[in-house]
Amino acid sequence: MTVTSTDRPRADAPSGAAPSPLLEIDDLRVHFVTSRGVVQAVDGVSYKVNPGEIVAVVGESGCGKSVTALSVMRLLAKPAGQIVGGRVLFQGRDLLTLDDEQMREIRGRDIAMIFQEPMTSLNPVLTIGLQIMEPLLIHMGMTEAQARARAVELLGLVGITDGERRLDQYPHQFSGGMRQRVMIAIGLACNPKLLIADEPTTALDVTIQAQILELMRELSQRLGIAMIFITHNLGVVARYADRINVMYAARIVEQGTAAAVFAKPLHPYTVGLLRSVPRLDRPRDARLATIEGLPPNLLDPPTGCRFAARCAAKMPICDPPPFGVPSRRRARPRRRRAARARHRAGRRRGRRQEPSRAAAARGRPPQEILPHRAQRSGPRSPHGARGQRRHVRGLSRRDRRAGRRVGLRQDHDRAQHPQARRSDRRRDQV
Ligand SMILES: Nc1ncnc2c1ncn2[C@@H]1O[C@H](COP(=O)(O)OP(=O)(O)OP(=O)(O)O)[C@@H](O)[C@H]1O
Ligand code: SF4
Ligand SMILES: [Mg+2]
Repeated sequence: MTVTSTDRPRADAPSGAAPSPLLEIDDLRVHFVTSRGVVQAVDGVSYKVNPGEIVAVVGESGCGKSVTALSVMRLLAKPAGQIVGGRVLFQGRDLLTLDDEQMREIRGRDIAMIFQEPMTSLNPVLTIGLQIMEPLLIHMGMTEAQARARAVELLGLVGITDGERRLDQYPHQFSGGMRQRVMIAIGLACNPKLLIADEPTTALDVTIQAQILELMRELSQRLGIAMIFITHNLGVVARYADRINVMYAARIVEQGTAAAVFAKPLHPYTVGLLRSVPRLDRPRDARLATIEGLPPNLLDPPTGCRFAARCAAKMPICDPPPFGVPSRRRARPRRRRAARARHRAGRRRGRRQEPSRAAAARGRPPQEILPHRAQRSGPRSPHGARGQRRHVRGLSRRDRRAGRRVGLRQDHDRAQHPQARRSDRRRDQV
């Protein structure tokens, strides 16, 4: 269940009707098919981003923040990553229904993404200049000279001086923090309507971090760029975000305006997250609160509340109902019991009403039992047996001697079955 903290409109939001959202993620479900099973990486995530709004997504590592963002960009690792449900509406168009060509037009121009790993997201064999200029040449129709001039301007914007010279350098000639700033420059190149920033300042020192965040906020306000801000840093969220989505174990557990969530968090996980942030107004020797335990395995997530195993506020009513939707693994013994019960009921019914197959067979004409030699060839099973043994009533001990097999000729049944016909022919040739 998602808890919604009381929403308050932004100070600069137009009064009256709510703005139509720029992006609307609706009941998104993403699975990864792996050798160990299906990872349910995103399970029914829904949130909206209004034009010009900064929306933060916070949550523990592995809860599905990046996978949700990559699904919006349709950049999931293929073939393992599959969007199995939901809609992603961008300006009213469902991105999940677009073909690759249509998606390429939107990516980079209307929606840009600053990826989580700046060290691996840049192409190591292309100069920084080419990588910044590429979206400008493709989406903005600029000439090479115009694109180069804009690239220098963008480098300056993200705090990299001597842009003219830097454009001709390769990623390995930049520090980690500079590479992250190059990623931000690429993201901002085409003035997108929506910028998804996946932990954009993790590799930056605190002062540069603050500069970049201020820059992003200023651009968001000046150019009306909406932003999805994925971060672990609740201090950043408190300072820059208008709205917050708290994710836990592939689901959103709380959402609301930043002011409301920080003032009165409702979900115990959000409460735990906020308690674990160091604060200057606490005594220096006070221990930081932690959330004990680990998030559930998304290969087989628990039924009911996913936070229950770690929740300090858990109540008896929080346990999943005994007859709730069972997980596949838990359902197996129940299914087996049900199958056995059906089988027993069938046998009882069979005794009372209709003859069993064995009884029906007894009413058939007598079958001819022909002794024949066992086949020497044929695959041997790992356990050594050469095939299935079959109990035949009325066999003497002599017939069951080692090395002897008996064939059961059931011409009226077997004649219907081509495989049986073939094996009968082989047997007759022996
Ligand atoms: N290519 C993949 N193959 C299999 N599972 C994947 C793949 N990519 C992500 N996952 C799984 O999807 C889940 C969500 O991952 P995601 O990268 O969205 O986490 P996250 O919330 O961004 O974490 P972090 O804060 O560490 O970046 C994780 O359980 C992860 O193991
Ligand atoms: S265990 Fe109960 S109280 Fe705790 S988060 Fe889950 S539903 Fe809420
Ligand atoms: Mg991530």
